[in-house]
Amino acid sequence: MSVHSQAGSERPVTTLTFRARKSARQRVVIVTAYDAASARLVDEAGVDAILVGDSMGMTVLGFDSTLPVTMDDIARATGAVVRGTKRALVIADMPFLSFQVSPEDALRNAGRLMAEAGAGAVKLEGGATVAPTVRCLTEAGIPVMGHLGLTPQSVHQLGGFRVQARKAAAAEMLLEDCHALEDAGAFAVVLECIPAELATLATGRLAMSTIGIGAGNGCDGEVQVFHDLLGLGGDFTPRHARHYAEMGAGITEAVARYSADVRDGVFPGEEQTVHMEPDALDEVSAWSAKHDPLRRGER
Ligand code: KIV
Repeated sequence: MSVHSQAGSERPVTTLTFRARKSARQRVVIVTAYDAASARLVDEAGVDAILVGDSMGMTVLGFDSTLPVTMDDIARATGAVVRGTKRALVIADMPFLSFQVSPEDALRNAGRLMAEAGAGAVKLEGGATVAPTVRCLTEAGIPVMGHLGLTPQSVHQLGGFRVQARKAAAAEMLLEDCHALEDAGAFAVVLECIPAELATLATGRLAMSTIGIGAGNGCDGEVQVFHDLLGLGGDFTPRHARHYAEMGAGITEAVARYSADVRDGVFPGEEQTVHMEPDALDEVSAWSAKHDPLRRGER
C-alpha cells in the first residue's frame, strides 16, 4: 500500500477536500516546502497540502524575519514545489507588501502565483482590514487561506514573535476577524500561536477550516515548518514544533564523512569511476607524451 492510500486518497487535494474533511471531522495535514526535492518527499508522505511559506525568508534565505521575501522568491519556489508535487494542494504565501497596497495589486500578484507558478491557492495575513482584498481574489476564482494570531509580517508591530489573543478583548477581535475572512470567501484560516481554547472555539463557530500552528489540538488541521519538523533549524526549536527526525545532525555527520573520505583518497571509489577503453588510453598517452609542454624543446 502506498503512503497516499494510507492517507486516504490518491486524488489531488482541492479546497473542496478541506470542506469535506471538516464535515467528516478528519484533520488536514499541511507542511511547508520551498523546492521540488522536499515537495516530492512530503507529497509522497501523504500530506494534504504544501505551503510555500514566506517562512522561507528565515529557514532558507537566512533573514531574521519574513519581511525581505519578495514575489519573485515565492513565485520561483512555488513553481519548483508544484513541479515536485503530484497530489497535495500547493498554497503560495503572499509576501509582505504584495497584497497590502491595494486589492488590484493583490489580484495581480495572486494571479501571478496561480497562473505563472501553478499554485492551487494563496495565503495572506490579516483579518477584517484585508477582507475586501480576500473578496476581490475569491471573486476572481482564487482560493484564499487567511492567517491570524501571530502574523509574522507584523512582527515589529506585535513586538516580537509572541503568543497572541490571551485576553478577552483580543480574542473577540480575532473571532471577528475570522468571520470577516469567512464572509469574504476564505476557505481556511491559519491560527498561529494563540491559546488552544480560543482556537477550539473558533473551529466550532466557523464553516471554513481552521489550521493551527501553536494553537493547541482543537483545529481542523495543523501546519508545521519543514525545517522545524526535521531538525534542520539549528539550535532553535519553536515551542509549537516537535522534531520527528534529526536530519540536521544527520546531514552534518554525512558531509563530515564525505570530507574525510575525499581527504583520505577513498572517495570517489571504483563504483563512482569510469575508465577509458584500453586502445584509446594507449593512443592518448602517446599523444600526451608528444604534446607535453615540459618536453616541447625535445621535439
Ligand atoms: O510562512 C509560513 O511558513 C507560515 C506558516 C508558519 C503558517 O505562514
